[in-house]
Amino acid sequence: MTREAVVAVDRAALQHNVDVLRRAVAPAAVMAVVKANAYGHGAVESALAFEEAGVDWLGVVDLDEAVALREGGVDASILSWLHAPGETFERAAAFRITPAVSDLEQLEACAAAGVPAVHLVIDTGLSRNGATSSEWPALFDRAAELAGVVEIEGLMTHLSNTSPHEDGHQMAAFVRAVGLLAERGITPPLQHLAASAAALSYQASRITMVRFGLAMYGLSPFDDRASADLGLRPAMTLSAPVIGIKAVPAGEGTSYGYTWRASVDTRLALLPIGYADGIARHAGNSAQVLLGGRMRPVVGRVAMNALTVDIGPDDPADPVRLGDEAVFWGDEAAGHPTAADWADATGTINYEVVATLSPRLPRSCR
Ligand SMILES: Cc1ncc(COP(=O)(O)O)c(C=O)c1O
Repeated sequence: MTREAVVAVDRAALQHNVDVLRRAVAPAAVMAVVKANAYGHGAVESALAFEEAGVDWLGVVDLDEAVALREGGVDASILSWLHAPGETFERAAAFRITPAVSDLEQLEACAAAGVPAVHLVIDTGLSRNGATSSEWPALFDRAAELAGVVEIEGLMTHLSNTSPHEDGHQMAAFVRAVGLLAERGITPPLQHLAASAAALSYQASRITMVRFGLAMYGLSPFDDRASADLGLRPAMTLSAPVIGIKAVPAGEGTSYGYTWRASVDTRLALLPIGYADGIARHAGNSAQVLLGGRMRPVVGRVAMNALTVDIGPDDPADPVRLGDEAVFWGDEAAGHPTAADWADATGTINYEVVATLSPRLPRSCR
């Protein structure tokens, strides 16, 4: 009997999603965003699956993540876009990683490190990384001066997904920046601003490349559309075995603070997974798992390494046995609860449900 929770990642689902998304945005190129341990799916395995399915680019946050992919045998083009002050970019040159640079200092450092090509990151309204519009002229002038030293292969920004109006405003700013670059003789072949939601919402957002994160893993970025509505297959199934079954009489509580007490004589199944593994602490008394063919509630507080599920009184017609696997979330088409169900139950979004799963949980990708 396996005694561990397991993150099973369906490689065929990842590759199916590449096909669906590629067709949805053609002729734009497609980047698979594999930052944050590939949204909890396992960075190297997911990146290799995406690479095999023919994505054009992989996207990560920083050089640490990019180098880990190269060391894991990933060969595809990799873009990384968030860098600390003082970054020298020597690893970018050594590991064939393309930095997306936000300012003059980063551009100069790339030139000095012998990085052959970069993307420029511009801030069109998110107010995070990226050059703000007042900085564009100086950055673009210097980019033009560095022609022949560093190729400006791409221009990128990131949308706030606030509303079509706000997104339109950002897209218009991006078009202005493309014009300013063109005035300096630079037309980056890769112009990209859309992530999953925008790419699937506005054709005009796709330009020459789309950066798909969530949708690549088969999850929907929309509140009102499920994975299947988008033709996507959720790739991750999180499960854990029942390692204990205990009868509890009516009135008995479970876990810290007795936030739940049995209203009738019942039984609790103990599962070896908790908030140290990435299960939200407040999933207790709100989320459900699929166990023994039925949805059953997580009851009491989720502890650091364990949680309990109410499996009802002993009933031969409704058995749950030691070693049975409880599914936390997976593919709705298989009758599983979804990451979106867990997000609703715990007051967050499906992104956070999968991305906060601990890297120490064993993962399989096949
Ligand atoms: C710069 C950038 N591009 C693309 C993505 C992918 O976003 P999504 O998962 O919504 O597709 C992210 C994720 O936050 C990002 O930070």
